[in-house]
Amino acid sequence: MNSEALKRLVAQAACDEVLKQPAGQCLGIGTGSTANWFIDLLAPHQSHFAGVVSSSVASTQRLIQQGFYVLDTNQVTDLPVYVDGADEINPQGHMIKGGGGALTREKIIAAMAKRFICICDASKQVAVLGHFPLPLEIIPLAEPCIMRTITALGGEGRLRMVGVTGQPFITDNGGWILDVHGLSITQPVQLEAQINQIPGVVTVGLFAQRKADLLLVGGPTGVVAVAHSQ
Ligand code: 5RP
Repeated sequence: MNSEALKRLVAQAACDEVLKQPAGQCLGIGTGSTANWFIDLLAPHQSHFAGVVSSSVASTQRLIQQGFYVLDTNQVTDLPVYVDGADEINPQGHMIKGGGGALTREKIIAAMAKRFICICDASKQVAVLGHFPLPLEIIPLAEPCIMRTITALGGEGRLRMVGVTGQPFITDNGGWILDVHGLSITQPVQLEAQINQIPGVVTVGLFAQRKADLLLVGGPTGVVAVAHSQ
């Protein structure tokens, strides 16, 4: 099975899971190619939900095109479930996210949700996080200062650019993204707390303090479900 087939498989498993929720509740939906499969497969069942909240402008546009009722996060007080992909996940359920640059809204919605269901293919499972560069959303004027602090932590920060335009990638919130290479993240909870303390960092793409509650992984033999307690 190729990677797209695995994403579709795991997205279908997530649809089956969220449709076990009572009708009339809200649902959080993330960003990326796996989340896109989830949106498309869930579209015929959209009336099961009172509305959805989305972690990016791109997902919001896709959800609206598919006929979902998209709510602002400010309008939602009760969010039973959030479904999203990940760039890496370790055996404890700690994740690196933000490959699509949507980490800040993803972290907000993950914090709002009672359950975080992570959907990915088996290639995202790693023993130690850090081979995938760790994204940080930052306030642009703090970039040189943050870069120095990241170097002192043993990482190499690279400003994310838009293709070969020479222009920085701008997030949905007007921030920039620093992708930090060269880290071997053996203590994700501590590193998340440490990077959160750096002035000018809006969000670090480590989801360790609030990790996945349920991981659905698509592999050659089908979908494997792994539950994690917080
Ligand atoms: C976007 C994310 C995505 O969840 C992550 O990049 C995984 O994406 P994909 O499903 O395309 O592999 O964090 O900011």
